[in-house]
Amino acid sequence: MSVLRIAGGSRLNGSVRVHGAKNSVLPILAATLVGSGESVIRNCPEIADVEAAFNILRHIGCTARRDGGEVVVGAADVTGCEIPHSLMREMRSSVIFLGAILGRCGKAVISSPGGCELGPRPVDMHLAALRELGADVSEESGNIICRCGRLRGAKITLRLPSVGATENTMLAACFADGTTVISNAAREPENSDLQSFLRELGVSVYGAGTSTVTVEGNRVKTGAEHRVIPDRIAAATYACAAAATAGDIEITDAEPRHLASVLSALRGMGCAVSVSHDRIRIAAPEGLSSLPPISTEPYPGFPTDAQAQLMAVSLKAQGTTSFIENIFQSRYAHALEMRRFGANIKIEGKVALVTGVAKLAGAPVTAPDLRGGAALVIAGLSAEGITEVSEPSHIDRGYECIESSLREIGADIERI
Ligand code: EPZ
Repeated sequence: MSVLRIAGGSRLNGSVRVHGAKNSVLPILAATLVGSGESVIRNCPEIADVEAAFNILRHIGCTARRDGGEVVVGAADVTGCEIPHSLMREMRSSVIFLGAILGRCGKAVISSPGGCELGPRPVDMHLAALRELGADVSEESGNIICRCGRLRGAKITLRLPSVGATENTMLAACFADGTTVISNAAREPENSDLQSFLRELGVSVYGAGTSTVTVEGNRVKTGAEHRVIPDRIAAATYACAAAATAGDIEITDAEPRHLASVLSALRGMGCAVSVSHDRIRIAAPEGLSSLPPISTEPYPGFPTDAQAQLMAVSLKAQGTTSFIENIFQSRYAHALEMRRFGANIKIEGKVALVTGVAKLAGAPVTAPDLRGGAALVIAGLSAEGITEVSEPSHIDRGYECIESSLREIGADIERI
């Protein structure tokens, strides 16, 4: 089993490029099923979750081939409609294929996604929306089985602004007769990027990025060419790494607007942050100050996917910062690991209280999940001595070779 070995104490310095957005390319790969031809996706990140999505596409009869950051998906012949447990297990968010497979095939069977490291991951909103579009949905022996004749447009209001439920509903609605209006839709940039791809496919869809998305179903679609937006959470991760090491870095190929809440928090801690249209410059002082409470919210609020990384920055900040995790039921596994560095963290339900300490000591830790693992790397960079992060495969799900990106900006990190 490999580990990431980090010798802490280096101030990060230099320029690092942000890869394409994981949470954008996954629904876009599912959206290739809306087309009946070949689609070309550029700036596609080379990460494990994308490989898992390719396996699903190939399993149902599509072709998927990669040439560096460019991916070509052929969706002319969809011969299957089932995602077996072995493939669902690889990536819980495979549920995002449900709406597109159902719309394309009239049937879709997936193994129930179950929970993950962040707690239960229900899909009730996904299934309720598909039922409102006319699907028959049942759950039998660990599988979710959806069937439909013709899907029909509907007015759907989501109980929560769920990113995945918004995307699944958008995709199924492409196949429905008539108009679908999704209210209380998620407003994340990844939803807007999915809308851009669907438009390039010829679908009449609008409103993504607001709380109301409208889709006119059943238009002629073939294939599309699309460049995926930058990964705002990867950019946030590198910015946090610079902040935690009194570093001075430039983050390129970024979309600063998409992580404004994270950059604002880092400025609040004392970092100098300047942005242009596609890059971020962040320079951090030796001593950072704590922040007023950080509450994770749907976009454009502070993203739950950057909570762990900002927590890593707060471990040595002057004073106490409280984190309130409102999106997922249990997203503090990284906090338990951070205590092994000597961090002072108290957890009470959805609140984590972090009181800065003078120094952190490197320690062996285990990545509990994707973003928690990245946060432990940040903590290791800012600790004195050696840190070993085991189970880096969690991190590889969402970051392109995190150690080489960090080495490029001066980190002493290797995979052994
Ligand atoms: C997406 O997950 C992202 N994943 C997550 O990123 C991200 O944390 C999350 O949105 C919130 O921004 C992808 O896009 C692949 P939700 P998703 O549906 O769609 C509950 C990462 O690290 N809920 O917006 O699963 C759910 O349990 C990952 O890159 C229901 O109750 O998130 C959660 O508490 C982690 N019923 C809340 O809503 C449902 O039917 C928000 O979940 C669906 C969701």
